[in-house]
Amino acid sequence: CRGQIDYANITNSPEWNCIHTNDSETMFPTNFAWGAATSAYQIEGGWNVDDKGPSIWDTFCHEGGRLVFEGQSGDVTCNSYELWEEDLRCIRQLGLTHYRLSLSWSRLLPEGITRHVNQKGLRYYNKVINDLVASDVLPMVTLYHFDLPQALQDQGGWKSPEIAAIFDSYARFCFESFGDRVKLWITLNEPYVCAKLGHEDGIFAPGVKEPGMAAYLVGHNMLRGHARAWHSYNVLYRAKQGGSVSLAINSDWAEPLDPASPDDTAATERYLAFTLGWFAWPLFVTGDYPEVMRSSIEVRSKELGYQEGSRLPRFSKDEPSLLGTADFFALNYYTSRRVKPGECCPGVLGLKSDQDAEGVVDPSWPVCGVSWLAVVPDGLRKLLKYIKDTFNNPAVYITENGFSQVGPVDMEDVQRCGFYHDIIQEIARALREDGVDVRGYFAWSLLDNFEWADGFSVRFGLFHVDFSRPERPRTAYRSGREYAGIISKYRSQT
Ligand code: NOJ
Repeated sequence: CRGQIDYANITNSPEWNCIHTNDSETMFPTNFAWGAATSAYQIEGGWNVDDKGPSIWDTFCHEGGRLVFEGQSGDVTCNSYELWEEDLRCIRQLGLTHYRLSLSWSRLLPEGITRHVNQKGLRYYNKVINDLVASDVLPMVTLYHFDLPQALQDQGGWKSPEIAAIFDSYARFCFESFGDRVKLWITLNEPYVCAKLGHEDGIFAPGVKEPGMAAYLVGHNMLRGHARAWHSYNVLYRAKQGGSVSLAINSDWAEPLDPASPDDTAATERYLAFTLGWFAWPLFVTGDYPEVMRSSIEVRSKELGYQEGSRLPRFSKDEPSLLGTADFFALNYYTSRRVKPGECCPGVLGLKSDQDAEGVVDPSWPVCGVSWLAVVPDGLRKLLKYIKDTFNNPAVYITENGFSQVGPVDMEDVQRCGFYHDIIQEIARALREDGVDVRGYFAWSLLDNFEWADGFSVRFGLFHVDFSRPERPRTAYRSGREYAGIISKYRSQT
């Protein structure tokens, strides 16, 4: 860790103990979800076995010249396709009440469409879900976590307007197949990342680099697909299955670099509008993008000679509406930034240029593991309060949050232990002092896994995975044991 907080001996520190001080009051609500999360491409392996079709991440990793660390891929990764029972053992060892996993669309539907269903893929996920339920662990299932079937990419992928209806058919197929046992659904994970990293920066699959254009179109079609899937669930499945559906939004917490500066304050508003707001405003506030996002893009578009409004699409009145299509707020929170106006020159086409706001790391924040991850647990509390105030006090699940390790493996990861204690303390404060309706917390991740462009160089797991051995042994880090201790403490309180 680069930074000032010394998490060593955390288990003896006063801060750690203070979350235990008032045991007579229940800290976490009954039924609070204590979870951990993974995603299909990052853990499953088995990329071409049992009739699975290729996804855009298979293609991206296999094509030469891509930017994945040391040319690595998720071909085998944790091999959870073969070793699911080992994962279940880890889940049980932690005492999780919930487990968040994603379905590989191209394992279920090799060409992406429901005309051809892969029975072996269906059998695999049925086993996973049945085993979870039999172990008293409730599944939260993500339909899409970055791995579009390649066959659909070949028809234009998320840039094509047809994708919304195709996603809806896939979602209906999943609700129909698994919805008797799955009650918590995430349609799409982090559309911001798919849009920006996949279609503007080109550092994630499908590797498209079209600054300032494709990302908005992709985000738009993802929202359209989400809305259709939510309405399908609402009309066809809600009454008989009784579950909830949302979309997982990633966002930093952001605050002005200089709180007294109106420019920094305005830049912070834009920063939040272009990340959280981009996807949350349509679902929770207006059914459309935040006004400040549209106006910033229009300003830049004019400077660049584009027609007004031509880059950020408009929602058609003839389509299923977006407003109200989230049954809870699903938040992926990792880090925070202090914000000032961007230094990017006006002539540059791109999302960051439109946003005109730059996030910097406060020097007092430790940066642990991967370079973007400044560790700011109280940023989560502030973001939760902001969500409560801005989006009319929704139920919130923290669908991802974690702490990474790089370099030599440290099984006695005291810093990560300290981090988990701190973050859970911040959630307790958000619940009790700010009245935020937090329903659950999912640590990212159950296992060390394939961290996208960073390959296996960045480890987020509560369990270490030895990728050098064919059996891929899983061993709890000290932080895994600590998290298990935290869960057993608070589960038994309720
Ligand atoms: C969010 C993504 O959903 C997940 O796939 C990724 O591994 C983590 N962030 C950590 O970067």
